[in-house]
Amino acid sequence: MILYDAQNRTYTIHTQNTTYQMKVWDYQVLLHAYYGPRVEGADLSYLLRCKDRGFSPNPNEAGGDRTFSLDTFPQEYSTFGVGDYRLPSIELESSNGSHTVDLRYVSGEVRKGKYGLEGLPAFYGGGDAWETLSIILRDAAAQIEVELLYGVLEEYDLITRAVRVKNAGRETVRLLRCASLCLDFIHSGLDMITFNGAHVAERRPCRVPLHPGIQGVDSTRGTSSHQHNPFVILCGQNAEEDYGLCYGAMLLYSGNFQALAEADQFQNSRLVMGLNPYQFPWTLEPGTSFTSPEAALVCSPSGFGQMSRQFHKAIRKNLIRDPYAGRRKPVLINNWEATEMNFTADKLVEFAQEASGLGMELFVMDDGWFGVRNDDNAGLGDWTVNEEKLPGGLKALVERIKALGMVFGLWIEPEMVNEDSDLYRAHPDWILNVPGRRPSRSRNQLVLDFSRQDVRDNIYEQIKKVLASADISYVKWDMNRSLTEVWSAALPAGRQGEVYHRYVLGIYEFAERLSQDFPGLLLEGCSGGGGRFDGGMLYYTPQIWCSDNTDAADRLRIQYGTSFCYPVSTMGAHVSAVPNGVTKRVIPMDTRGVVAMHGTFGYKMDLRACTPEEKETVRRQTAQFKEHCMLIQEGDYYRLSDPFQNGPYTAWEHVSANRREALVSVVTGTFRGAPPFLALPLKGLDPALHYRVNGEGDWPGAVLMQTGWPLPVPDGDYQSFQLYLEAE
Ligand code: GLA
Repeated sequence: MILYDAQNRTYTIHTQNTTYQMKVWDYQVLLHAYYGPRVEGADLSYLLRCKDRGFSPNPNEAGGDRTFSLDTFPQEYSTFGVGDYRLPSIELESSNGSHTVDLRYVSGEVRKGKYGLEGLPAFYGGGDAWETLSIILRDAAAQIEVELLYGVLEEYDLITRAVRVKNAGRETVRLLRCASLCLDFIHSGLDMITFNGAHVAERRPCRVPLHPGIQGVDSTRGTSSHQHNPFVILCGQNAEEDYGLCYGAMLLYSGNFQALAEADQFQNSRLVMGLNPYQFPWTLEPGTSFTSPEAALVCSPSGFGQMSRQFHKAIRKNLIRDPYAGRRKPVLINNWEATEMNFTADKLVEFAQEASGLGMELFVMDDGWFGVRNDDNAGLGDWTVNEEKLPGGLKALVERIKALGMVFGLWIEPEMVNEDSDLYRAHPDWILNVPGRRPSRSRNQLVLDFSRQDVRDNIYEQIKKVLASADISYVKWDMNRSLTEVWSAALPAGRQGEVYHRYVLGIYEFAERLSQDFPGLLLEGCSGGGGRFDGGMLYYTPQIWCSDNTDAADRLRIQYGTSFCYPVSTMGAHVSAVPNGVTKRVIPMDTRGVVAMHGTFGYKMDLRACTPEEKETVRRQTAQFKEHCMLIQEGDYYRLSDPFQNGPYTAWEHVSANRREALVSVVTGTFRGAPPFLALPLKGLDPALHYRVNGEGDWPGAVLMQTGWPLPVPDGDYQSFQLYLEAE
């Protein structure tokens, strides 16, 4: 619910459990008054104090009043050069060279429904579930109009934000910074949690108290990156899984981003999140606008678990566009780790036959099916089927796979090119590269200039032809390097700063075309695993390969970190062979299966090489996943332990919406002598209902939550247990 109180000049947003308020203060300055647990009927600006502070300037209109300073008040969208010395949200260069921006409130409007953002991913939804608030601010001297957009999804405590900047003058301006959100707090004592890592070690939570000055994370790689995720949490220092106040902020963006927090001289805190201003001057001609990516906030007054569950529901129901919505997705088998690029059609069919016999339903042919692609030094850019490997083309292979009762999927990496390819030989100028420099290689490949329509069109037409040539149900869209030498032949010198963002817009346009032309196609995103795991890509690809690290012990940590923002249904997770390719660890098949069920579930191994016992395990696991798939993918998710604590086990739980069903999964750590007798308290059950556990007994929900369930005593490393609870 969005309320405007004309007398107090406050805009108040209520969600189910939270309240957000801003106030039009003196001189039309828009201040941020409050964001936190739901409170009714108050003008919360009584919390703001006017005080003369040394070296904090006063706007000219304030005359002799020294108590009004932008430097001391919480701002709704912080400016630059007019007295607020903290993190700016916007910065521009006017035609006279000035960087100053001074925004004052003009008007506000409340609308039913959710705003959309042209060419950018955004939360969506029809009916009355959403409301939009649009606030117009203006800088009269710079002749800039700024629209602050707020989307409100009450049920999930979700508030989205985006910003449109319009050049309302007659001169060209350069936009240097345009954050998607600014969030001020009139206190410090907050911790910041960021999710960091590397290729094969993504999204490790790192919690630090805010210290005076600026801290945060960003990406300059052209993708959202393995190194830092565009999702951060600010929380009270006492906040934990089921207790305390926390604020999650996600950015729906797949390129260079920045999320910075500042603790200032008066112990106020500020979070600014959006596009990375590094390498981002955007030219705004008179009359044109720039739209920021969308950010989304969830505030939880009762800990991280509740925050995550609200994000999960909003992402599942109002962000991803899943052709399988409400239906079980087919269980997948992928040939990559078994064959890499060394395969023939016959080998793939043999491989699929084994998988189909064990219950798998979707066969995915990974890298190596196109051009002259026998290793990773050639072929990218030539999206025509390699008929030496696949005689008769895709159609022939797909028909053979379908005859096994399976559907078919394909790997692509549209943004890349190898120098050893027909495409590169014909168009060496289509890559991102600075004239006079030699382009850096990574995995021996170069990056195509996806900021250019002609380049995208060429690749799109090639891929469209392939997808139209056979019955293809799934595509894995990979992206295996970071950007370097970012320069586009299609833009003049003064606009080269736009290339990073135009590249991302190009990706989104490409993805949108795919979804429009092939509406039933299930897209899985991938960037060497989780290098582009963000809300932006999730709008187009309802699932993303979580990490190239499939070791079950490492995956427990990667999936745990990922779960703070992103739902289990979006996490690509497969069982792979042991010793694991990355860690060389050997973890029992049972446990690998349980860990892959914390995701989309599938296999990435040569099942022909399994022992009869292992095959039996695969058959059982696949059947079990099919049975519980909807509970896992659509149920409420509870973290029952933190795998980074190195405790005796890692556990998590999925609970159905009506709380009549739950699945608890437990994986033990490395075995230590004389293991203790442990009981695991469950969460999210109905205290009044009685549950059968694995088909037996009659246990009150209240008892299971308070006293817990006794865990089997492990007798080896990395063992796993699952409990299926069903209400009587
Ligand atoms: C990336 C992906 C892998 C696989 C290879 C193929 O590394 O993450 O799953 O698809 O590319 O080259």
